[in-house]
Amino acid sequence: MTDWVAEEHRYLFQNYGRQPVVIDRGEGTRVWDTDGKEYLDFVGGLAVNALGHAHPVVAAALAEQSKQLIHTSNIYYTKPMIELAKLLVENSCFDRVFFCNSGAEAIEAAIKLARRWGHDTRNGAFEIIAFEDGFHGRSTGALAATGTARYRDPFAPLMPGFSHVPWNDLAAVKAATNERTVAILVEPIQGEAGVNMPAEGFLRGLRDWCDERNMLLIFDEIQTGVGRTGTLWAYEQEGVEPDIMAVAKGLAGGVPIGAILAREALAAHLVKGDHGTTFGANPLATAAGLATMRYIIDNKVPAQGARGSERLVARLRSMEDRLPVVTEVRGRGMLIAVGLSRDCSAEVVEACRQRGLLANNPRPNAIRLMPPLNTTDDEIDRACDILEAAIVAVTSVPAK
Ligand SMILES: Cc1ncc(COP(=O)(O)O)c(C=O)c1O
Repeated sequence: MTDWVAEEHRYLFQNYGRQPVVIDRGEGTRVWDTDGKEYLDFVGGLAVNALGHAHPVVAAALAEQSKQLIHTSNIYYTKPMIELAKLLVENSCFDRVFFCNSGAEAIEAAIKLARRWGHDTRNGAFEIIAFEDGFHGRSTGALAATGTARYRDPFAPLMPGFSHVPWNDLAAVKAATNERTVAILVEPIQGEAGVNMPAEGFLRGLRDWCDERNMLLIFDEIQTGVGRTGTLWAYEQEGVEPDIMAVAKGLAGGVPIGAILAREALAAHLVKGDHGTTFGANPLATAAGLATMRYIIDNKVPAQGARGSERLVARLRSMEDRLPVVTEVRGRGMLIAVGLSRDCSAEVVEACRQRGLLANNPRPNAIRLMPPLNTTDDEIDRACDILEAAIVAVTSVPAK
């Protein structure tokens, strides 16, 4: 029998810390490994699989589109990209969409649009304020925006023009602003940092500050968008509309895609020849995106995720009473973290895996859960049972 882990070690770059499981197939919130073992997948492709694995609507769209047209070029028009853009515009506060292939690429596009606008209207202002612990991707521009020095430093010098201020600190944002500042880039909820919530009024404060200083507000909704937090876009819950929104992850049901959205007057600054990518708006990806987004919108899937979240959060909160190591349950919709008083999240994730649950440890003291939005009550209950058993197993052993 093939030892897939050994083969991976032999042939791939060793830049990922992979869990020792070879996932072979999935259906809904469940996956099976190559030994046939079943897992509840509460990682969901890192907040990608909004509708779960092998959703029939997404699968059918891919099958049909692959027989018709997989790829042409952005020097031509195709139907799926236009239909998906129309759907996104009709279901957001924006007028136009630019498609690319990943979250990092969406951030690159947002940076270029902001700089182009600064060049055209703000006397060449180009600096962007971002946040400590914020995550925006691994390409060099997105990495410059990312607020974790450990990710950035080995690749210095990165693109200049970024500063990082503490999360939730509006006074620090104001102090960091100067006449060269063109934009503020922020995740509505910091996902990779361990699901850090915005303080009440923080995002509104950023909006007001941008308006006062004629700067752009860029929301990175790559993780929070597509229903993840209980509404189609996280900005809806804050009563704050950004100037640019970057999305990716869940947008095409697991097929690589990214996009930025903006209003007409801003989008007009990116003119012919300013930006592009070969695979952007690819018919296969946008057909998958159209099927995914239509299904999510028509079936009110974000609300379904919000209902599931209530059950998930209630179950997790009840653990706080029984397990002193559980200090906090935070997040919104199907983007939830369990805070721990000990740095044992890796051990808990391992104990969950052994018991048939895939969970994620973005921080040594935090477990993150990002199941599909249509995860059933029974699956939520079973996942919570496993998580609780795993935490008990790990924490009943005294810390080293
Ligand atoms: C908020 C946020 N921005 C950007 C990215 C980068 O997206 P990608 O990995 O598709 O490049 C991620 C990925 O986790 C993310 O969570």
